[in-house]
Amino acid sequence: TIEQRIDLLLPLMTLEEKVGQMNQYNGFWDVTGPAPKGGTAELKYEHLRKGWVGSMLTVRGVKEVRAVQKIAVEETRLGIPLIIGFDVIHGYKTLSPIPLAEAASWDLEAIKKSAAIAADEASASGINWTFGPNVDVSNDARWGRVMEGGGEDPYLGSKIAIARVHGFQGETIADLAKVNTIAACAKHFAAYGYVEAGLEYNIVDISNSKLYNSVLPPFEATVQAGVRTFMNSFNTLNGVPATGNVFLQRDILKGKWKFDGFVISDYASIREMIAHGYAKDEADATAKGVIAGSDMDMESYLYVAKLADLVKEGKVKEALVDDAVRRILRVKFELGLFDDPYKYCDEKREKEVVGSKANNDGVLDMAKKSIVLLKNKNNLLPLKKSGQKIALIGALANDKNSPLGSWRIASDDNSAVSVLEGMQQYKDNKLTFEKGADLTVGKTSFLDEVVFNTTDKSGFEAAKTAAKNADVVVMVLGEHGFQSGEGRSRTDLDLPGVQQELLEEIYKVNPNIVLVLNNGRPLSIPWAAEHIPAIVEAWHLGTQAGNAVAQVLYGDYNPSGKLPMSFPRNVGQVPIYYNKYSTGRPTNTDKNVFWSHYTDVEKTPQYPFGFGLSYTKFDYKDLKVNKTVFEKKENVQVSVSVTNSGNYDGKEVVQLYIHDEFASIVRPIKELKGFELVNLKIGETKTVTFTLTEKELGFYDNDGTYLTEPGTFKILVGGSSDSGLESRFELK
Ligand code: IFM
Repeated sequence: TIEQRIDLLLPLMTLEEKVGQMNQYNGFWDVTGPAPKGGTAELKYEHLRKGWVGSMLTVRGVKEVRAVQKIAVEETRLGIPLIIGFDVIHGYKTLSPIPLAEAASWDLEAIKKSAAIAADEASASGINWTFGPNVDVSNDARWGRVMEGGGEDPYLGSKIAIARVHGFQGETIADLAKVNTIAACAKHFAAYGYVEAGLEYNIVDISNSKLYNSVLPPFEATVQAGVRTFMNSFNTLNGVPATGNVFLQRDILKGKWKFDGFVISDYASIREMIAHGYAKDEADATAKGVIAGSDMDMESYLYVAKLADLVKEGKVKEALVDDAVRRILRVKFELGLFDDPYKYCDEKREKEVVGSKANNDGVLDMAKKSIVLLKNKNNLLPLKKSGQKIALIGALANDKNSPLGSWRIASDDNSAVSVLEGMQQYKDNKLTFEKGADLTVGKTSFLDEVVFNTTDKSGFEAAKTAAKNADVVVMVLGEHGFQSGEGRSRTDLDLPGVQQELLEEIYKVNPNIVLVLNNGRPLSIPWAAEHIPAIVEAWHLGTQAGNAVAQVLYGDYNPSGKLPMSFPRNVGQVPIYYNKYSTGRPTNTDKNVFWSHYTDVEKTPQYPFGFGLSYTKFDYKDLKVNKTVFEKKENVQVSVSVTNSGNYDGKEVVQLYIHDEFASIVRPIKELKGFELVNLKIGETKTVTFTLTEKELGFYDNDGTYLTEPGTFKILVGGSSDSGLESRFELK
């Protein structure tokens, strides 16, 4: 067995070799070239040859991976293969929509398939481990990394997390040995989605209730799904850095949840415990990381420098090192790396798989499913396919880079299909394009700050002329693909640069506007929501973005996406989320100001969680609960009938929310506890049935104990979190 093989290997390893397994380096030099001279590259290379490196990140492509693997396997004393990690976040070279967009599909099979495509391409390029999925629940759109997650809801987030783990790894751990699967990594453990004020890398200070009920469930779901690795987060949680957090990693993850894979730190986060003010020096940071259960050090250079001495001095128990190494070796064995270290290094497969037609078809399908129709007054959409003059306006419409989104290190620049290219395929209309204004100034890249054009409006006049002469105007506006993601916190969620002004100017000459939004987070668009007749949320949809948008605009695909995060009316409402609490004064009963509200804007979101329209119409009827009073262990059956009463075949995401009306710890006024996708032809009716068990009806108390309490429950079933049919039942 794998454990027996580890038992044989561990005693052969020197302390330094064990520590080496716990060390991961970023391979930023030309690993296929001659030995690097000078600086950290030379040091890393030397360590690699001594067997002091267990993993590398960023190295990619069969040629590069083979080169580093060869050193590990053929030049080191024990020949232990490297595990090769990479941020395969929404595809490798052929890109799917950003993860938040995929979440809008609520289509777990499609999301799983998208992760499987990513795994297929990455594994064909030498990679065997992705730093995904990101399962950080967040309700703060100011935080740029919401683009990487599943949105604001722990239930939806958990289902998506499982789908992604299975997509990357396969259904069972045995599937990891297949050549087209890769180890997944649940990140960032934990609570990174709650950085204060949405400020990147900030502290996190949340209640136990939030931690147990919102933050942890998707992580626990990944453990149950067999995820092989975890990455901790950059933030502190109640004063303790996640990287050095015994409670999170030892008590919960490896203790209560019995996780038997390994934990990697985030980039340099072992060292960052010094900057946080939690470790006094490098040795202290190293000891705190290992003691807390951070098994592998990503690019802090600390374990490799300090850990062996700490063990020799008796400051860190060798048993902790052995445990970490056992976990790392276990995953390497499961991947089959010991049986064939070059199994992911097949040039022929790399050529066939990466960028294949099948993968492009797959990501196009995912992209269409991710689009959310937010408004469609007077059925302006879908566009007529012929005899129309269409003005396409906005720099993003002609951008082949931005739709790729953030976290796409392996993809080629400018490799997306633009909206212009997508729309040009509908040849029976007259299409004119004007950018109106540049969106950005200077370089846009993963590492650089994106600077918006806030002054140059010289293209406005040409755009207005095009709009004036058109039957319909399609405007593509929003954020650049590199404006969300890590290091991209914003204090303003409006359309950036001069885009709002452009939108209003065009509206004056032709109000018949379809606004296509490109963004990696909820935006606040109150003016557009009021004035613009049609709004399509098209996120950053990846390689096939323009084709997906065009097919939706022209009605070749009927949109069915639903928002995985609430869209605020303005940034001052943030954090805003559907699963909020009642407060003691939820409504204006006394007709004075002393109730829970804002004086300047409604307290509801602009567009709520779960909201999304279709070109057709769905009617809900006959909501039934099979009984009115249930015993604790009994299943509650809820059924509803849904009819497509419009003029297009379509798909609806039927959603079930509960409200535990009275509990020992106040419960949210709504909690998603079930959803199902139903395809309905014109005129067709289907009955959808949900089963609620103890698992759905309970909650965690402030000590992390799961409780199901007697009492009354309200249920809401519909096509959004803010509307539907209601019923109730009692639990004895
Ligand atoms: O995986 C990422 C992580 O999400 C943020 N810091 C860097 C890691 C490796 O690139």
